[in-house]
Amino acid sequence: MIAKLDELRAKAITELDGIDKPSDLEAWRIRYLGRKSALTQILRGLAALSLEEKRATGAAANELRAFLEKSLALREEAVRDSVIARAIEGGRLDITLPGRSPALGRLHPTTQMLRQVCNIFMTMGFEVVEGPDVEWEYYNFDALNIPQDHPARDMWDTLWMDFTTEDGRRPMLLRTHTSPMQIRVMESRRPPVRVIVPGKVYRYEATDATHEAMFYQIEGFAVDRNITLADLKGTLFEFAKRLFGEERRVRFRCDYFPFVEPGVEMAIDCFLCDGAGCQLCSGSGWIEILGAGMVHPEVLRRVNYDPEIYTGFAFGLGLERMLMLKHGIEDIRLFYSNDLRFLRQF
Ligand code: PHE
Repeated sequence: MIAKLDELRAKAITELDGIDKPSDLEAWRIRYLGRKSALTQILRGLAALSLEEKRATGAAANELRAFLEKSLALREEAVRDSVIARAIEGGRLDITLPGRSPALGRLHPTTQMLRQVCNIFMTMGFEVVEGPDVEWEYYNFDALNIPQDHPARDMWDTLWMDFTTEDGRRPMLLRTHTSPMQIRVMESRRPPVRVIVPGKVYRYEATDATHEAMFYQIEGFAVDRNITLADLKGTLFEFAKRLFGEERRVRFRCDYFPFVEPGVEMAIDCFLCDGAGCQLCSGSGWIEILGAGMVHPEVLRRVNYDPEIYTGFAFGLGLERMLMLKHGIEDIRLFYSNDLRFLRQF
C-alpha cells in the first residue's frame, strides 16, 4: 500500500509540474484529490484494514494528501504569475495605468459640531445621555408643565404618530425638543445630576432657509443642592468662550419656557463685527444662541425631587444654528441635501 502511495505521489507531481493553465490545474485537482481519486478511495478503505495497517497507511495517505494540496497551492500561484507575465508581454495588460485612489470619507459638519459641543460640556463634568426620537406626549409636553390646552404647545409644531388611544387621542409624537429627557433622566436618578442630551428633534414645518423639519438640539441640565442662576450663567459663559472665542461676551435676557422659572435667552456679542453691528447680527451686535432657565419647581415635584431642597438649571441649543453662525452658512437646508460640494468644505 505504501508503495502504491509513493507511485501516486511521483505521478501526480510530475504531471503537476507540467501544468501551465488554470483549467488544467482544476482537472488535476479532481484527478488526484477529488472524491473519485485513488487517494480518496484509499482513505475511505482504511476502515476495513487491521489496526496496524490502518495506522501506517492512514498516516502516509494523510501526509500525501496534505503534500498534494500544498503543491497545488504553490503551482496555482506560479501559474497565476506566469499568466500575468504573458499578458504583460503580449501587451494585453497595462500595469502602468494609474490606480483609482479610494475616496476618503469625513464626518458630517453636524457630527463634528455635536462632538465639539459634547466635549466642551464633558470637560465640565457633564455626562452624555441619549433618548428616543419617538416620544410620549407626556414627556414632551405634560411633564414639562405644558398641559393639553396650554397655548405654549403652539410654540412647537408637532408631528403626531398615526395611532390613537381608545378615547381617540394620539399619545405619541416625534419629539419637538430634547427637553423630555430632563424628565426621563430625573425619573430614573436622584440628584446630583449633570447631563447633556444630543439628539434629533422634529417640527411640522414648511422648510425654508432657517427652518428644517428635522434638526439637532443639545439639552443640558444640572440639578443639585444650591444650584443658582449664577451657575447657569457661568457654565454657559464658559461654553460660549470655548466655542466662539476667548474674548466673547454674553448677554442674558428674560424669555419664556413653561418648564423653567425664570427663563432666559442667551446671546453672545457678534464675533463677526465684535459687537459693532453687521448683517450677521442684524445690526444689533448680539446673536441669540440658546434658551435656558432654572428648572421649574413644578417639574421637580413631578419627578419627586423636593424643590425646597434641590434646584437646577437647564438649557437647550440648536446645533445647526451654532454651525451657521460659526461658518456664516445662510441656509439650514444645505446640511441635509447631501450636496458634496457643500459637505466637502468641512
Ligand atoms: N426646549 C426648548 C426649545 O426647544 C429650549 C430650552 C431647553 C429652553 C431648556 C429652556 C430650557 O425651544
